[in-house]
Amino acid sequence: MADVKVDISKVDEILDKHKDKPGPLMPALQELEREFGWLGPDVLIRVAQRFDIPPSKVYGVASFYSLFSLKPKGRFVISICQDAPCHVLGAQAVIKELEKQLGISMGQTTSDGLFTLEITSCLGVCGVGPVIDINGEVFGNLTPAHIPAILARFREKAPAEEVGR
Ligand code: FES
Repeated sequence: MADVKVDISKVDEILDKHKDKPGPLMPALQELEREFGWLGPDVLIRVAQRFDIPPSKVYGVASFYSLFSLKPKGRFVISICQDAPCHVLGAQAVIKELEKQLGISMGQTTSDGLFTLEITSCLGVCGVGPVIDINGEVFGNLTPAHIPAILARFREKAPAEEVGR
């Protein structure tokens, strides 16, 4: 995967917004996660320095909650709903096909930094399951046969210079 650089001045800007509020750590980490898509070591250390709390505490909070990612995600995050209605309609076969086509397992990112596979809870469109969401675009009524064309479409969208974030 491409080397990931974080703009520390942007980190400071976010931390400044939260540092004088009560209980600033969680909201600051949430905003940093939204901004960068993950929380790297340099970001966590900066949070500890600016909030004057031990790095081990910052890391402990960031690693405890599943809403935080401590690894960079791909350019395209493929979220697969595995709740009961989608499961019954064949989500598992779609997951298997995605893993086969991308050569990775759930929770992993392809080595070119293009795709991350993750499980999500109900996306609110259970009537058209199985469903996947790719960067906010939802695909429903899926079968394994749909997957190659969907992946090809996103590969075409991604110029080499955009890979990695
Ligand atoms: S259960 Fe999959 S979208 Fe609702």
